[in-house]
Parts: sequence; structure tokens; C-alpha cells
Amino acid sequence: MEKLMISGGRPLQGTVTISGAKNSAIALIPAAILAESEVILDNLPLLSDVAVYSEILEELGANVSWEGNQMRIDPTHIISLPMPNGPVKKLRASYYMMGAMLGRFKEAVIGLPGGCNFEPRPIDQHIKGFEALGATVTNEHGAIHLHAKELKGAKIYLDVVSVGATINIMLAATRAKGSTIIENAAKEPEIIDVATLLNSMGASIKGAGTETIRIEGKSELRGCRHSIIPDRIQAGTYMIAAAATRGNVLIDNVIPKHLEALTAKLIEMGVGIEELDESIRVIGKEKYESIDVKALVYPGFATDLQSPMTSLLTQAEGVSVLSDFVYSNRFKHVPELARMGAKIRVEGRSAIIEGHPLNAAKVKATDLRAGAALVIAGLTVSEGITEVTGVEFIDRGYDHLVTNLRELGADVWRQND
Ligand code: EPZ
Repeated sequence: MEKLMISGGRPLQGTVTISGAKNSAIALIPAAILAESEVILDNLPLLSDVAVYSEILEELGANVSWEGNQMRIDPTHIISLPMPNGPVKKLRASYYMMGAMLGRFKEAVIGLPGGCNFEPRPIDQHIKGFEALGATVTNEHGAIHLHAKELKGAKIYLDVVSVGATINIMLAATRAKGSTIIENAAKEPEIIDVATLLNSMGASIKGAGTETIRIEGKSELRGCRHSIIPDRIQAGTYMIAAAATRGNVLIDNVIPKHLEALTAKLIEMGVGIEELDESIRVIGKEKYESIDVKALVYPGFATDLQSPMTSLLTQAEGVSVLSDFVYSNRFKHVPELARMGAKIRVEGRSAIIEGHPLNAAKVKATDLRAGAALVIAGLTVSEGITEVTGVEFIDRGYDHLVTNLRELGADVWRQND
């Protein structure tokens, strides 16, 4: 196993270019099997989850070629294969294979997801949607079995605003007979990105990005070419790192609107922000005000930026309160930050963070965003070296992390643990 070694205290300076969105890519790749001919995806992030997904499609007989940031997927000859085990177990979002295979083959056997373990990740809303479309869904020996004589459009109300359920139901509904309406749908930009791909394939999806999505089912979809939107969470992580190290960084290849909630909170703290068309400059300041942050569904403050933001708030004067209303227990980074001297108390869904300088320590990443939080914390510490284990988690969400940070002037390197 590897660990990240961080000798901090150096302000990040320069430009970082953001790659394609992980949480789009791992939905767009399975979506490609709904087409009868080749799908080309550009601006693909080079991440382990993306590599696992190409493995899964190749197992089904898809022809997948990946060159730089472009993946070509030819699903013409794929077959319906049960996948109770194997690569599907390596990642959380393997559940998208359920919607994609149900849409294409009217059947699927998918092993329950693995991936991040910060709290149990139910898929009851996904299953509710599939059943509404006419599928029978059973859970046998840790694998979800789905089967439908035919898929018929339905009206589905999501009890919980869920990104995964919204996308998964959209995948199956594009090949159902008739129209489907998803109400109380999630509005994240990644959902719009998947709908854009499906519409380029000939689907008819309206309302993606709003709480009501209408899908007209099609009997056949064709290949297309699609460029993935920039990763707003990766961008937000670098923005927070620039602020935490009092640096001056241009975050390039972003859609500023996707980062509105974070930008507003950084400005509230006293961070300097310059917004351009496709980039945001972050200018760190010596003093930051403590603030309150609520992680909510989009367009609220992203829960995926909650842990990195916790590290920044340790640098503010006074006491900040950060609450997560999406996940009830996404605070596994807090005890690790405490080992670095952070003064944080978790009460229910909230972390109460008292501004306090951090010191170097050996810490452990438990999920990819907690890992990012620990890296940011290490970057603020000028004395000693912070060691972060669990790098495999961080690599799932941040491609070129060490290269990017070193180009911004950080003294960070990988070392065998
Ligand atoms: C997506 O996960 C992201 N992952 C997560 O990012 C992100 O944190 C999350 O959306 C929220 O924005 C991917 O896109 C691969 P949800 P997802 O379904 O779709 C509950 C990262 O760090 N829920 O929107 O699994 C659930 O427990 C990852 O990149 C149900 O109760 O999240 C949670 O409390 C981590 N039943 C809330 O809804 C369901 O059937 C939101 O979950 C589904 C979800």
C-alpha cells in the first residue's frame, strides 16, 4: 500500500486544470450499453473507478478502448451476463449496471456495491423505480436480481432525493414502452450530463436538472460522442486547498455555476474569489471568519465538499458549525483531524469546529473525500511531515493529485507504506 507524505506550510500558487467529473463518468460508461453502436466519451477522468467500469463492460463483451482522456465503447455485441461477483464489487456505483442492463436486456444480476464505507448506502429508491417500471427485484445472496417481461413507463415519486436513483431509473426508462415521470428527482449537474448523453443517443428526456424529469421510452438508441462536464467536486477541493494554504490558484476548466454554494461560503469567510467564464481564481487571506455551513442536495453546498471544508474551517478564527443533511454520519475524518490537533466536536449531523492551528501526524483516509480533507489539513502544517494512508481511496476521486499539487508548489510525494 502507498501513503502520501506532505511537508506543508507552502502557499499553493499557479494553475490547475480540472478533469471530467467522476460522478458523471461512472454513470455515462454503463449508459453506453443502451446504444446499438459505438459511444465515444471525451474528457474522461483517469480514475480507478473508471478503469473498473471498463472492465465490467468488457466482461459483457463490449469493445472498450481507452486512449488518454477518450474512451470508445462499442456495445454492439454485448450479451446479458449475471455479475454477482467480480469487478462490480469493487465500486459503490456499480448499481448503474442495474438500470443499464434492465434497459437493454430486461434482466440483470448485480452484486451489491462496495466502494466508500462512510455509512450504509441504501438503494431502496432505485428498486422502487425499477419495480414501478415493471421489473421484479430480489436480493439473493448479496446480489440484486432484476427481471422484466417488458418495461412500461410509470410515474415515480422518489421518497428521498437521490442522485443514484434518479440516474438509474432514467437509464432503464429510456428503453421502456411509453413515458416515465420521475418526481422529486435530484438536480445535480451530473444528472443533466447523463440526460445529455442519452438524448444524443436518441432518447427523449426533458427536465433533467429540475425536480420533475419526463422520459419517452425508445425501442432503440444509437451511438454518439459526448464530452463529460468538469468535476465540480475536484474543482471545489482545489479551491479549498488554495484558501487553506493562503495561496493564489487559478482553477481552470470549471463551470462556475456548479460551484456557487462553495464560492459563496468562501467569500463569507473572507477568501478572495475572481470568477471568469470557465475558471475561478482563489486568493487566500491571512485571517478567515468562522461561518456556518449546511451540506444539502444540489444546488446547496455539496456533501462531497463537507470534509475538505472541515479542514479549511480549522483555519478560521472562532467556532464554525458544519452540518450534513444528506448523510447522517459522514464525519470519519474528524478523529483523524483531531490527531492533527483539530478541535472538533461532532453532535448529531453537525461538526462544531474551533479554529486552531494543526500539527503533523500519521492519519488514515477512510473514504475519498475524507482523504482529501486530510491532504488539505497536511498542506497547512509547516512543521514536520503529515503521512496519509488509504491513498487508494483518494485515487478513486482525484486523478493526478500529487502531480497537480507539486505543480502548485506543494511538497507532497507518495511512499510505500
Ligand atoms: C452520489 O451518491 C455520489 N456518488 C456521492 O458522491 C454523493 O455524495 C451523493 O450522490 C450525494 O450527492 C456518485 O455519484 C457515484 P444519493 P448516491 O442516492 O447517488 C439516501 C463521492 O464522494 N438514499 O444521492 O449514492 C442516501 O442514504 C460520492 O464522490 C436512500 O435512502 O447518493 C443518502 O442519505 C460519495 N435510498 C441520500 O439518499 C436510496 O435508494 C443521498 O444519496 C438512495 C439514497
